[in-house]
Amino acid sequence: MNYNSKNFKEFYSIISDMDKHPAVQEMKKYRQHCDTSCYDHCLSVAYYCYCICKKLHLDTKSMARAAFVHDLFLYNWRVRQPGREGLHAFTHARTSYEKASNIFNFNKKEKDIILKHMWPVTPIPPKYIESYILTLVDKYSALEETYTYYSKKFCTKKIYKFASFILPILFIHIP
Ligand SMILES: [Fe+2]
Ligand SMILES: [Fe+2]
Repeated sequence: MNYNSKNFKEFYSIISDMDKHPAVQEMKKYRQHCDTSCYDHCLSVAYYCYCICKKLHLDTKSMARAAFVHDLFLYNWRVRQPGREGLHAFTHARTSYEKASNIFNFNKKEKDIILKHMWPVTPIPPKYIESYILTLVDKYSALEETYTYYSKKFCTKKIYKFASFILPILFIHIP
């Protein structure tokens, strides 16, 4: 993600008012996938969704604003908490929408984008193409964040560093 690109600046101008809100900043306190915070996850997902919508001449504004708060659930989902019913995967889209809609006004499409972002884990399908874009980008980002975390961990172990150095040399010299 290039923060100085023209695209990122256009994207950020759409969400800059939301970004100032303390609840949005609070997403930095909670981990989403591995060591990626909910804030960083939402920011990158929203930006990629925005870029796709721009290319396809879709609703970039609704896309960016909804995707930026799609995981504003504001709790540690790894810890079972009293009063929180149901599995996180099935419930957090609604929790995020309820918390976000107490702060920001959303149109029908933005509501659908946030509420349906876990489809097909949650069974009711989205109504808008922008909602489908978030379901795909969200899953892709989850995989990418997890892969980046484990590949960094893997590469910092001395034995693997040594192997990644010595194995290519062995293969080059094997007739
Ligand atoms: Fe989510
Ligand atoms: Fe997400």
